[in-house]
Amino acid sequence: MTKTYKIAVIGGDGTGPEVVAEAVKVLDAAAGRFGFKVEKVWYDLGGERYKRTGETLPDSVLAELRQCDAILLGAIGHPDVKPGILEKGILLRMRFELDQYINLRPVRLFPGVDCPIKDKGPNEIDYVVIRENTGDVYTGVGGFLMKDTPHEVAIQTAVYTRFQVDRCLRYAFEYARVKGKKARGKGPNNTLALVGKTNVLTYIYDLWERAFHQMGQQFYPDIKREYYHVDAACMWMIKNPEWFDVIVTGNMFGDIITDLAAITQGGMGIAAGANINPEGVSMFEPIGGSAPKYTGKGMINPLAAICAMGMMLDTLGLHDPAEKVEQAVGHVIANKLKGLAAGRMGYTTSQVGNMVSEYVASC
Ligand code: IPM
Ligand code: MG
Repeated sequence: MTKTYKIAVIGGDGTGPEVVAEAVKVLDAAAGRFGFKVEKVWYDLGGERYKRTGETLPDSVLAELRQCDAILLGAIGHPDVKPGILEKGILLRMRFELDQYINLRPVRLFPGVDCPIKDKGPNEIDYVVIRENTGDVYTGVGGFLMKDTPHEVAIQTAVYTRFQVDRCLRYAFEYARVKGKKARGKGPNNTLALVGKTNVLTYIYDLWERAFHQMGQQFYPDIKREYYHVDAACMWMIKNPEWFDVIVTGNMFGDIITDLAAITQGGMGIAAGANINPEGVSMFEPIGGSAPKYTGKGMINPLAAICAMGMMLDTLGLHDPAEKVEQAVGHVIANKLKGLAAGRMGYTTSQVGNMVSEYVASC
């Protein structure tokens, strides 16, 4: 019997619903071509629902999400809603409650895409960032004292447990072993680089660094270990991106460096991410945000959402369909699109989705 995958689809805010619609189109094409079944459950979450009802992510929806095989998300963030409410109430709550402790963000330049870095191409921009996704300053530990007085104090504390650090490192080492540059025939080593700030964050990144070397020495002597301070890493990601293979880092630094990395791979139109709970329900999203100014114009690039859907297939164990989606995206970029930025593709959002699905269905 063919397995039916139950996929929760959350369009969310701004251009989220438009790009997710294209990802679903490609998902359907892949299902048809490879003979698996998909049951989609659409959820209306985001700024509009919040404005209407005051709800962000209701417990009842969360309970249903736990029963799905995966979640496909468009974007969260609405110009009329105070920053933080939707992000914490929906996106971060989903990551935390479903314990999606890995945020996997590939940084790959597809052939045919202009790299903003001079003399760098697909061979140089080819690494992944594994961002820890449940700890750090994201935990919300902190508060105000004497708010709205001249003596106001604001505290926001970075929190990491050894357990959180170890499980993230283990995932990263395993990933480097199976998908690092040596494993892919692209280099002499599989390398895992820890990005931190051991010279200032002498508690948090001391913990990370000790755990990193202990685990590496004991269980992964075959993986080359490197360490970069985060500021230096930002410099090298531009100057010598080819040095990187698999990067592992904390939540806050991971957030920042993946936007920097995204622009080196052609921008937010193509940058995808997976929020993974290896033992549970994972969520897949373009990393670019809701881009409200492009809403409803058919100008936004759906490829990031389509690539996120491809990562979903891969995580579900549907490796051939995932591979086909990636090929299709590569084909459309190399042969059709004028650019990756919103409004510069030479096609509308849905035309791009159609071209990718047609390739997936028939090539
Ligand atoms: C991301 C985003 C989120 C984050 C925001 C919207 C809360 O920037 O997924 O990178 O900081 O994680
Ligand atoms: Mg971010």
